[in-house]
Amino acid sequence: MKFIKQFLYSLSFLGIVILSVMCKDEKKKEVTQKIEKVSIEKNEFGTTPDGGKVDRYTLKNSSGMTVDIITYGGIITSIKVPNKEGVSEDVVLGYNNLDRYMESSPYFGAIIGRYGNRIAKGKFSLDGKEYSLAVNNGENHLHGGIKGFDKVVWKASEETGEYYAALKLVYLSKDMEEGYPGGLNTTVTYTLKEDNSLDMLYEATTDKKTIVNLTNHSYFNLSGDFSKTVLDQVLSLNADKYLPVDNTLIPTGEIAEVKNTPFDFRKPTSIGSRIEADDDQLKKGGGYDHCWVLNGQDKGHRLIGTAYDPESGRVLEVFTTEPGVQFYSGNFLDGTLPAKQGGTYKKRSGFCLETQHYPDSPNQLDFPSVVLNPEEKYSSKTTYKFSTK
Ligand code: GLA
Repeated sequence: MKFIKQFLYSLSFLGIVILSVMCKDEKKKEVTQKIEKVSIEKNEFGTTPDGGKVDRYTLKNSSGMTVDIITYGGIITSIKVPNKEGVSEDVVLGYNNLDRYMESSPYFGAIIGRYGNRIAKGKFSLDGKEYSLAVNNGENHLHGGIKGFDKVVWKASEETGEYYAALKLVYLSKDMEEGYPGGLNTTVTYTLKEDNSLDMLYEATTDKKTIVNLTNHSYFNLSGDFSKTVLDQVLSLNADKYLPVDNTLIPTGEIAEVKNTPFDFRKPTSIGSRIEADDDQLKKGGGYDHCWVLNGQDKGHRLIGTAYDPESGRVLEVFTTEPGVQFYSGNFLDGTLPAKQGGTYKKRSGFCLETQHYPDSPNQLDFPSVVLNPEEKYSSKTTYKFSTK
């Protein structure tokens, strides 16, 4: 009897030991699997004329999404995401090599700074002192000037966690660079997550009062086929109002209702359905090239717009903390720039949703302020999230 009892005790002890070892193994496996889900890889991409080395980082998750980012301009050179059949294809316009980006690029995929979009005549005042910025778009300043944040080499560092891969880019813009006061210490962190979202966190501090308005200038074509236009892709924007512009694309100051205009994207509408309408604002923009005044400005990081390609089934949702979004329908693309997949980028083969404060804010006192003081921290977050339906 005693022997049987002892035998049973030993048996159950052995069972417990085996079980706990198995559980540990399972846990170990789970952790390694989690770590394997996201990855980041670094490769050389080229060299700038002054010898600056440019790297390309590839962020990958296990849901079929891959994002390539280069340290020149913090440019997103590729975003591959699955269509409704599960086939991953590139959905952002760009080039295959550095020379092309340096030669001529309409800001394909780049970080825009210090100021996203236009400042009238390149002039603004702070505390009674007038500043003159580089004038690089007719009579206006556009996207940070002649050598904006899209044309500098950023310092990169990587970080991976169980469910994310992040690339942190840092650039120190000197006092009076392109005419802007204050040394601006800027960080942009791109984070790819398992849910096929890419976060962009923009942070900056200054040593003198200045202005700042950062964004990303990716051109999307959700079809994955850059020989197609985006006119059949469907857009919705959570905005009751937009900013009409003058002939040089500077906001007039009026904040207009979208109701009963081709600017009403409150219900999903294809980009092309009204783009040729007989409308003064569409004519001024050569299509859509305007800032929408987003709803829910007090709600922080929220869904502000959705784009959908009925053919591939790809969906892009945009979330932001910003009050505005510049929806640009690729009107200046004219079939001269070479496409990654061969051929050229024709008119309206990509659209941009540039989350930002409003253009020309430094000169329009009714617009939300873009002033950054030395004791403050600029922080702005935008997310591109992909799915299918
Ligand atoms: C922005 C502007 C456009 C155009 C593009 C780049 O979105 O609003 O007018 O300059 O950048 O080509």
